[in-house]
Amino acid sequence: MKTIIEPFRIRSVEPIRMTTPTERARLLEEASYNPFLLRSDDVLLDLLTDSGTSAMSAAQWAGIQRGDESYAGSPSFYRFEAAVQEIFGFEQVIPTHQGRAAERILFSTLCGPGDIVPSNTHFDTTRANVEATGARALDLPSPQGLDPAVPHPFKGDMDADRLAEVLEEHAPDRIPLVMLTVTNNTGGGQPVSMANVRRVSELCAQHGVPFYIDACRFAENAYFIKLREEGYAERSIPEIVRELFSLADGCTMSAKKDGLANIGGFLASNDESLARKEKNLLILTEGFPTYGGLAGRDLEAIAVGLREVLEEDYLEYRLASVRYLGERIAAGGVPIMQPPGGHAVYIDAARLLPHVPPLELPGQTVVAELYLEGGIRAVEVGTVMFGTRDSETGEESPAAMELVRLALPRRVYTQSHVDYMVEAILNFHARRESVGGFRIVEQEPVLRHFTARFEPLYELAVSGTSGG
Ligand code: F0G
Repeated sequence: MKTIIEPFRIRSVEPIRMTTPTERARLLEEASYNPFLLRSDDVLLDLLTDSGTSAMSAAQWAGIQRGDESYAGSPSFYRFEAAVQEIFGFEQVIPTHQGRAAERILFSTLCGPGDIVPSNTHFDTTRANVEATGARALDLPSPQGLDPAVPHPFKGDMDADRLAEVLEEHAPDRIPLVMLTVTNNTGGGQPVSMANVRRVSELCAQHGVPFYIDACRFAENAYFIKLREEGYAERSIPEIVRELFSLADGCTMSAKKDGLANIGGFLASNDESLARKEKNLLILTEGFPTYGGLAGRDLEAIAVGLREVLEEDYLEYRLASVRYLGERIAAGGVPIMQPPGGHAVYIDAARLLPHVPPLELPGQTVVAELYLEGGIRAVEVGTVMFGTRDSETGEESPAAMELVRLALPRRVYTQSHVDYMVEAILNFHARRESVGGFRIVEQEPVLRHFTARFEPLYELAVSGTSGG
């Protein structure tokens, strides 16, 4: 069969509240044109993030029921620990309430002022946690990852030649660890090849530097390796995952992504003395080492989710649905980061709206218009999120790319939902020349995209053919 179906049936549903274009125009204005300030029940299709938004399976809900809430030594912890040990091959497993807590514990144990932490591209919380220790977060994306229009099978790779130079100059004294994010979220959800993981691993070993993987979307990355890298077509996903992590000294994980859970994460390694120090920090802010800020039921849901995410029928459907969205809008003329990533499609707003200059925030226009058009919530990944502002003069510099991320929650939307997304995006595309830009009227000094308030620099039309 050529048709790829959702490999599940739906037994419990969440109604979507329909809204009209007129209603959405009012709601968007009330939210100061920032989708983070909308109420989620005013959103028809929520593509803000794939994090913590997965639908859990019947087996996961059964795990929730089985969760043992003992403070210390819960069997739920041991089931969670066994799943992580078996899948990733690390002995020391420290549960945390989400990915960034694992990052904070790892970096505050290993890093200090003057240190440098290289990565293919640090996610924003990873960068912030590195920098909170006084160290510098250094992005070394591969050259093929920087041009949205040019397809390449492994745009998430690290520039290993540059890493070699950085290690030559600063390792091991100033480089406490090297990170590699799979898939590379900030760089378009693009995968990292096994060859690149191996090269980074060898370079780190030569220089005596620990090598960690940010594992959030490890299963999607492993499936891309199976599909695209020579020698892996016949290998199973668990085998590919074991090989990938055998090249690393440890990992941080947000179980809100490929853990198929709504909350949770962990920090893992084979270093017992390091784990002992990390557990001391864990106890300070997260909790006792057999629950680490999670309920026993969450540990159960993650233990089941980590196994389910490795199923090939699931991964085939997952990548097919993201690819379907990307290919359909690209065929309609919408410029996207090519090829579509594992968890999201990234619209290239700079090319979609060439008449809107970067400092007039073309990504914000796309985000506002998609909500007006179809009640779709997306996120700007451009100058609003990554632009910089001189604290003295207030002068703004644009980000390197103006992207809008359409992140698909796992197992939540069906193909007709995706068809609706395509229709709404193409409707907006047809009237793109009539739109203008936005300006920020209120913002915080850090992570401004979450709370900023905006004003349109053009007259918004009440448009939208769909949703009520
Ligand atoms: N690393 C990567 C690559 C991520 O994408 C995220 C979260 C984290 C670490 C932090 O994990 O949220 O559990 O603390 N990404 C979400 C997103 C928020 O929307 O991409 P967390």
